[in-house]
Amino acid sequence: MFLLLYFIVLIYVKDFALTEDSVITPLCQKGYFPCGNLTKCLPRSFHCDGVNDCGNGADEENCGDTSGWATIFGTIHGNADKVAFAQECFLTQYPPHCDCKETELECVNADLKLVPSVSSNVTLLSLKKNKIHSLPDKVFIKYTELKKIFLQHNCIRHISSKAFFGLHNLQILYLNHNCITVLRPGVFKDLHQLTWLILDDNPITRISQQLFTGLNSLFFLSMVNNYLEALPNQMCAQMPQLNWMDLEGNGIKILTNSTFLSCDALTVLFLPRNQIDFVPEKTFSSLKNLGELDLSSNVITELPTHIFTDLKLLQKLNLSSNPLLYLHKNQFESLKQLQSLDLERIEIPNINTRMFQPMRNLSHIYFKNFRYCSYAPHVRICMPLTDGISSFEDLLANNILRICVWVIAFLTCFGNLFVIGMRSFIKAENTTHAMSIKILCCADCLMGVYLFFVGFSDLKYRGQYQKYALLWMESLQCRLMGVLAMLSTEVSVLLLTYLTLEKFLAVVFPFSNIHPGKRHTSLILIGIWIVGFLIAVIPFWNDDYFGNFYGKNGVCFPLYDDQTEDNGGKGYSLGIFLGVNLLAFLIIVFSYGIMFCSIHKTTLQTSEVRSHIGREVAVANRFFFIVFSDAICWIPVFVIKILSLFRVEIPGTITSWVVIFFLPVNSALNPILYTLTTSFFKDKLKQLLHRHRRKSIFQTKNKSLSTSIVWTDDSSSLKLGVLNKITFGDNITKPMS
Ligand SMILES: *[C@@H]1O[C@H](CO)[C@@H](O)[C@H](O)[C@H]1NC(C)=O
Ligand SMILES: *[C@@H]1O[C@H](CO)[C@@H](O)[C@H](O)[C@H]1NC(C)=O
Ligand SMILES: *[C@@H]1O[C@H](CO)[C@@H](O)[C@H](O)[C@H]1NC(C)=O
Ligand SMILES: *[C@@H]1O[C@H](CO)[C@@H](O)[C@H](O)[C@H]1NC(C)=O
Ligand SMILES: *[C@@H]1O[C@H](CO)[C@@H](O)[C@H](O)[C@H]1NC(C)=O
Repeated sequence: MFLLLYFIVLIYVKDFALTEDSVITPLCQKGYFPCGNLTKCLPRSFHCDGVNDCGNGADEENCGDTSGWATIFGTIHGNADKVAFAQECFLTQYPPHCDCKETELECVNADLKLVPSVSSNVTLLSLKKNKIHSLPDKVFIKYTELKKIFLQHNCIRHISSKAFFGLHNLQILYLNHNCITVLRPGVFKDLHQLTWLILDDNPITRISQQLFTGLNSLFFLSMVNNYLEALPNQMCAQMPQLNWMDLEGNGIKILTNSTFLSCDALTVLFLPRNQIDFVPEKTFSSLKNLGELDLSSNVITELPTHIFTDLKLLQKLNLSSNPLLYLHKNQFESLKQLQSLDLERIEIPNINTRMFQPMRNLSHIYFKNFRYCSYAPHVRICMPLTDGISSFEDLLANNILRICVWVIAFLTCFGNLFVIGMRSFIKAENTTHAMSIKILCCADCLMGVYLFFVGFSDLKYRGQYQKYALLWMESLQCRLMGVLAMLSTEVSVLLLTYLTLEKFLAVVFPFSNIHPGKRHTSLILIGIWIVGFLIAVIPFWNDDYFGNFYGKNGVCFPLYDDQTEDNGGKGYSLGIFLGVNLLAFLIIVFSYGIMFCSIHKTTLQTSEVRSHIGREVAVANRFFFIVFSDAICWIPVFVIKILSLFRVEIPGTITSWVVIFFLPVNSALNPILYTLTTSFFKDKLKQLLHRHRRKSIFQTKNKSLSTSIVWTDDSSSLKLGVLNKITFGDNITKPMS
């Protein structure tokens, strides 16, 4: 009998692994199983609990299919052929509203207030969903043949310590979903044959040491959602056959090295949603037959190195949602049979490939971070499948991203190259300013080059990214790409700040004549490049301190840091993005604000009301666009950084869209804002086009752009000289007619 049960449990455990497989298909989320052909999904604990939760019986059906499981679990429904054969009732005495089949009696929802009096040779008594509130002394003493009792959903408050006297043949006892607060010592004393004891969802507060005395062949113990706090020492001393123990959600705080001391037969141990904070060495050393161990959602911060050493047969281990600080590098060394390992929500700062290599049979692994998957390359299924940027197969998981990276790279690169070309071709009067703009375009162009590299790498690893993810993120190319992107953004930010400050001085103090000379400007520009370069390469200086600063994700940009990041790199990235860049952004916003007010004041003093309104709108438009493009570029970055300070988890999807869409916005728009739409450029272009008598589409296109963004300079007052400087002004030669 025991062997049979054992095999059935093994099959069930196997089945578990199967339901977990089906979880991979998008039908139901992990830990849930599908209700046959319905779209409904139910949690694991609803499977085979004797209640038709699905509505179509699918949650009870699979138990019947797994070779005799139904008879053990006592599902009397769901077995179609049994209903067909057994219509006869062998019981002479039983209450109305009850169904009798052979010697099995079912009184579900029959409004019973007491355990009814029935024929003494009853073997199964189901009293689910009645109004029984108390089980007095010796209430079942007549029914020595009873094998199964179902008492769930009754709100039983009181169980006499002699309630189950005489039930020497009882195998299955369901007491879940009642109102039991106290289980008296010796209450299960006579239940020598008991194999299943289900006690979940009772507000039990006290469990005594002698409670399980006499349960010599208890096989299945389920006590979910009680308030146990502590387990009796050597729980299994009285229940040596105990095979399945479910103690979910009980507030258990302490496990000692003797709690499970003689539980040699235990194959399944569920301890999720308790308050366990420490698991001493040798706690599980007796559990030689354990197949599944669930310690998820506890408060364990540390696991001894050899805690799992004796669990040679363990197939499934769930440690998810524990605030573990550290995993030893040979923590899982002896788990040769392990098939499923759940480490969700656990940071593993010291993760390395050797940690998972000994588990040759591992087929499912669940991590907090997609990046960790590269450390367990031999595992068939690794979750999560994507970090929002990369999937298992592709560097850029999203098709839109994949296309956009090329489009934006092209726009950025060629827009900037075009401007550099135009600026060299058309001689400006203010050559130092033109030089600054060209340098800005160079920096922005690097962003385009970076995006091209991202696109190329995506193409290169298409369909097989998971094989190379780790290599790629650690590679020199990836780091250099990161340097390129960092250099581009930082030089661009510093240059924009410099240009803004220069213009600010020219506008707010128009007559002070503090224009930097050519040598001065060159020095400042060189200085900016050196600073940008230093910012980009400093993370290479000390690998221990910064870690792999750039290779945190597939696009090699150190924007988002999960909590596992080394403090050095994290602080540095914060300092750059929330320090330097935020400061630069604020300088730009305030400078433009003050400039606008200043121009507003000066134009009010001039007489021509009609023209100055239009002019002011144009100035406002222009300033708005410059500040706005800066804002859409940088505000998402600042928000992400600030949220990460508060330890808010940011989906990788958002990071990838910021890196590929928002960050290059400035680089792509700068040529338009600072050259293509300035009146100087427009005039020059007109002249050129006029000279070559070529009326192309380009001109009309340019015109339509210019009407929206650019102001027209048609008046020639002294003030105009001031205003023209704001257009990044190339000291305009007067418009000719
Ligand atoms: C591990 O436990 C958590 C929480 O109890 C659960 O959500 C998850 O599905 C479990 N993992 C596996 C692989 O069963
Ligand atoms: C599900 O299957 C049952 C038969 O097994 C059938 O009667 C029912 O219509 C099906 N429901 C749906 C939604 O397909
Ligand atoms: C059960 O007991 C009744 C008398 O109480 C008897 O008539 C019947 O045959 C018995 N059935 C079985 C299966 O022993
Ligand atoms: C359990 O731990 C105690 C110390 O806390 C130790 O004295 C005892 O030997 C341990 N028992 C076993 C079986 O390891
Ligand atoms: C892996 O599992 C198979 C059966 O699923 C078993 O035969 C084999 O021995 C296991 N491998 C190891 C290393 O235990």
